[in-house]
Amino acid sequence: MARKPLIAGNWKMNNTIAQAVVLTQEISNIFESDWADTVDVAICPPFVDLKPAKTVLEFDKTKISIGAQNVYWEPSGAFTGEISIPMLKDIGCDYCIVGHSERRTLFHETNEDVNNKVRALLADKVQPIHPIVCVGESLAVRDEGTYIDFVDAQVRAAFAGTDEIDAKDAVVAYEPIWAIGTGRTATPDQAQEVCAAIRATLADLFGAECAEGIRVLYGGSMNEGNAEMLLAQPDIDGGLIGGASLKAASFVDIVKAAL
Ligand code: 13P
Repeated sequence: MARKPLIAGNWKMNNTIAQAVVLTQEISNIFESDWADTVDVAICPPFVDLKPAKTVLEFDKTKISIGAQNVYWEPSGAFTGEISIPMLKDIGCDYCIVGHSERRTLFHETNEDVNNKVRALLADKVQPIHPIVCVGESLAVRDEGTYIDFVDAQVRAAFAGTDEIDAKDAVVAYEPIWAIGTGRTATPDQAQEVCAAIRATLADLFGAECAEGIRVLYGGSMNEGNAEMLLAQPDIDGGLIGGASLKAASFVDIVKAAL
């Protein structure tokens, strides 16, 4: 089954509203509408920038989605500082990054937290917000040689309690921590090896047909110079881009590499 690639920009904690509007407008200006037939594109700004970015894209009728970088699993209530799935739906989010390594390491998010978020996002079949479930090993785990087992366990934990009907709406992103923001990209072979292993885990959990339909992205110092080689790998179905998504020309060049 041919999978439509997804190129998603994770802006992380960058851009005020004014800066977000400028960057979204710049991306929108150079985005050609027929690209959307071949590649799905999303930008994931900070919460406060979601609505302004969405407004720019709606005004221009640009076929680029918006995604959040995090979410809380309860629909409402006394959870100071959190943002709910209904709030993200109201803004028009199509995607939500879950379990990014920065959240796991800096904000102590556990596999159980990630699982709660994934299950809550996948519960709605009418207007699903697709979770982009991030997994990936540290340099220590890579050097130990146990990275396949480590990532396999992260995927199983993230999807615990879901079935193939839920899982088909998910996206998985392999982001080796040693490649994030370091300029040290995984080689295409290294990235392919783990993305194929992730698909094998998904096949074990949900069956081969479901796993063939789930997009597995690579993230970690992906840029306009290395995107084509990475995207050419059979199990890499797109990219989750950090630094290079903050410049319109670089981000759009990565989108073009997926065409
Ligand atoms: P960089 O592209 O800056 O390495 O970040 C990758 C990432 O963490 C995307 O979620």
